[in-house]
This record gives sequence, structure tokens and C-alpha cells, in this order.
Amino acid sequence: MNGERAGWQPIGICFSVYDILSARPPARKRSQREGDESVKILVLNGTYRPNGSTTELAAAFMEGARGRGADVDTIMLRDQKIGYCTNCLKCYGFAGPGIAPCCMKDDMDELIPRIAEADGVLFASPVHNGFVTGVMTVFWERLSWRAARPGGAFLNSMSIVSRLDNKVRAFASISSAGGMPERLRKFCDDGTPWLKSNAPLILHGQWIGDMYAGADLEHMPASDEDWRRLYFLRRLSERQRRMAFALGEKMAEAIRSGGLKPVTMDKMLPPALRWIMDRVYAVSPPYRLAE
Ligand SMILES: Cc1cc2nc3c(=O)[nH]c(=O)nc-3n(C[C@H](O)[C@H](O)[C@H](O)COP(=O)(O)O)c2cc1C
Repeated sequence: MNGERAGWQPIGICFSVYDILSARPPARKRSQREGDESVKILVLNGTYRPNGSTTELAAAFMEGARGRGADVDTIMLRDQKIGYCTNCLKCYGFAGPGIAPCCMKDDMDELIPRIAEADGVLFASPVHNGFVTGVMTVFWERLSWRAARPGGAFLNSMSIVSRLDNKVRAFASISSAGGMPERLRKFCDDGTPWLKSNAPLILHGQWIGDMYAGADLEHMPASDEDWRRLYFLRRLSERQRRMAFALGEKMAEAIRSGGLKPVTMDKMLPPALRWIMDRVYAVSPPYRLAE
């Protein structure tokens, strides 16, 4: 495109035609996996308490997945050496194939290839301040641009393209809350929607499910003292363990079915919305579309 972009274009309708013609073919549905082809699932656990409720739920998930023949490995993020991202943009600017390099040398260099090898990834985290834990966020900051690249895959629009497109993965999450019951989940579990929108796009795959283990309490708080000790009244219920187990089974089966489809930016933002976003950039100084 040359020079400044014109405002409204009467050929706007052509964008959708162009989109249809230029769209990448839909991800080919893989055939049913062979019985002996192993299913590899990685559990990334963001808890700080190795024997706490998140770990217990992750263990139930693993049991469910193993029952369906999956090989499951777990990584406790708190035990990894993961430094804070310095925003040097070395990964972001990398144009080559595969995982982008980083200016820091630590355990991320081993963790990202393990994700690349995996057919499925579970993100498990306690709810902290209505979100995932700090260590999970630090991990994602270091992961995002090493696993995905910015691009203009469609009409020079902004885009995010996974660098880990060697396979289509299944993703799921488990969040374990302290005081908030399930009924209030949508007000205090921002971690799940965040993971749900990022993981499939950045790590190439499909979200297959999530669970929120809300506060199941030993008894209703009856006093000020009880409310102060709310987290101590919390226990995991059998139903929550079963849900985690079923999620593990579901992930193994989803991978075995071979029917997973990756999320791409083209699918997330319909052409009309992308076209509008381009215009918004073009008319908001000081933005100018590059030649
Ligand atoms: C710093 C911090 C913040 C927390 N924030 C929340 C919260 O926003 N909502 C909630 O329901 N529980 C919150 N909790 C309680 C934890 O989610 C709860 O204890 C959880 O089950 C811990 O998981 P774990 O046993 O794996 O450590 C918080 C706990 C801590 C330590």
C-alpha cells in the first residue's frame, strides 16, 4: 500500500471477497491418531504450595489423562529459574523460523521446547488477586513473543502468528480459589479468560475446557473470626476432584480424536472488524500506515 491510506474506500466490500480468496485453507482435520502414537500432556503448575489444592486438582487431572493412555509430565513453575522479561524485544524482532531467541539464559530455554513437544498443556493456578499467580504471569511474559510473532498476515493488518505450528495442541486450565464460591466466578476469575484467549493463539491449538474450584467451605462463616479465617475453612470437594479428573480424560480424548483446530487471528477478528481497526489507526494521529 502506498503512502497514507485513504479514509473510506468504496471497494470495502471487496475485502471480504479478498479474504475468502486469500484465506488460508482451514486446518486439515487430522485423521484419528494411531493407537500406539503417544499423547504427551504437560501440566504447568503456577502454585506456590506444592501440596496445596491446585496440585491436588492437577494430580486428579493427570490421573484422568493417564487413564486414557496419555504420558503426562508436570512442571512446578516456582521451582524453575525464570527471570523477569526486560522488554529488549530480541524475541519480538526475530524473523526466522522456530522458537525465537532471548537475551536471557535460564530455564525458559528448556521449558519452551517442552511445550513445542506437547500435544496438550494444562495451566493450573490458584486464583491470586482475581488472576493467575505472579509466577504464571512472569512465565507468560517470557513465553509470548518467543512462541509467537507479530505479523501482517492479512492485508497488512496487525496479527499474531504462532511460531509453534508444528502441531495443533489442546489447552485447558484449572483455577483454585480461596474464598470465592463458583457463583461469583465471573467477578473474580480473570485468569481463565486471559489464558483462554492467549494460549490457543500463541501456542497454536484449541481450548478444550477449564474448571474453577470455588470455595467449598467446611461451614458457612458465622463470625468475624470465621470471615478472617475464610481461606482456612476451604476444602476441596470430591465433586471438584472428579471434575479435574474428567478434564484430564477430556484432553487426552480430544488429542486422540485428531479433530483439534488452531485459533488464528483471521478467525478471532472477522474481516470487517479488522478493516475498521485499520481505519481507526489510520485516522488517529500520529499513526500512518507504512508503505
Ligand atoms: C496473595 C493471595 C491472593 C489471593 N487472592 C484470592 C482471590 O482473589 N480470590 C480467591 O478466591 N482466593 C484468593 N486467594 C486464595 C487462594 O486462591 C487459595 O488459597 C487457593 O486455593 C490456593 O491454592 P494452593 O492451595 O494451590 O496454594 C489468594 C491467596 C493469596 C496468597
